[in-house]
Amino acid sequence: MRQSLVVGNWKLNGDQQLVEQFAKRSAEFDQQSSSNLEVAICPPAVYLVSAVAQLSRSKIKVGVQNIAAQTNGAFTGEISSEMVAELGGRYAIIGHSERRELFFENSQNIAEKIDQAISQGIVPIFCCGEPLEVREAGNQAGFVEQQLRQVFAAISELAVGKIVIAYEPIWAIGTGKTASSGQVDEMHRHIREVFSDYGDAEALCILYGGSVKPENALELMSLQNVDGALVGGASLKVDDFLSIVSAAASAG
Ligand code: PGA
Repeated sequence: MRQSLVVGNWKLNGDQQLVEQFAKRSAEFDQQSSSNLEVAICPPAVYLVSAVAQLSRSKIKVGVQNIAAQTNGAFTGEISSEMVAELGGRYAIIGHSERRELFFENSQNIAEKIDQAISQGIVPIFCCGEPLEVREAGNQAGFVEQQLRQVFAAISELAVGKIVIAYEPIWAIGTGKTASSGQVDEMHRHIREVFSDYGDAEALCILYGGSVKPENALELMSLQNVDGALVGGASLKVDDFLSIVSAAASAG
């Protein structure tokens, strides 16, 4: 059975109080977690230490939303995977479409970041997904395949169990528009097929992201090729995030 994972991506949101809310309610998340389902939150990196400490007795893992492509040195403002690992971070979201668009990340530095994460035992959550115009032109499969192959070709060590992929159609992020079940399952199947050239595709954990909320979580999480969710907006409300986690747990 494949590993399932539900990850909260707080983006540039949240505060110390939200970390505390999660810590207070962590037992409810722990009830839903199992050897097959892991839950993680990725607050802004300044909250990493506090979140790891406050969740130390919980099963909820903590991650970051970005790491440096470099190990150390004169890179003002960056945070290395070694630092994240030292402080107990477990996951790093890498190559999110907002980072590609707003901070000019490309396949080369995304691959370097994935290498950095893996070298420190941090699980990279590598994001892919097409913009609206590509979907409208019907070219989404080729677009996503190219995103994947460019990065896979540049990664020095690629192993299932060390990488998680998140499919996030850009037109569904933060828009309230969710991809349909058919669109999601078809793309996840395609991603698995592409990955079979590089590793054990059947064991690959593929998350869906883009306006996942309590109302659509069960349908999405029940899809054969969906192994969890990367949740933005709805991860900022403990109740909403908990009900998405519960949906993932009941979808098995
Ligand atoms: P959203 O964001 O759930 O708010 O659409 C998802 C993401 O960007 O990871």
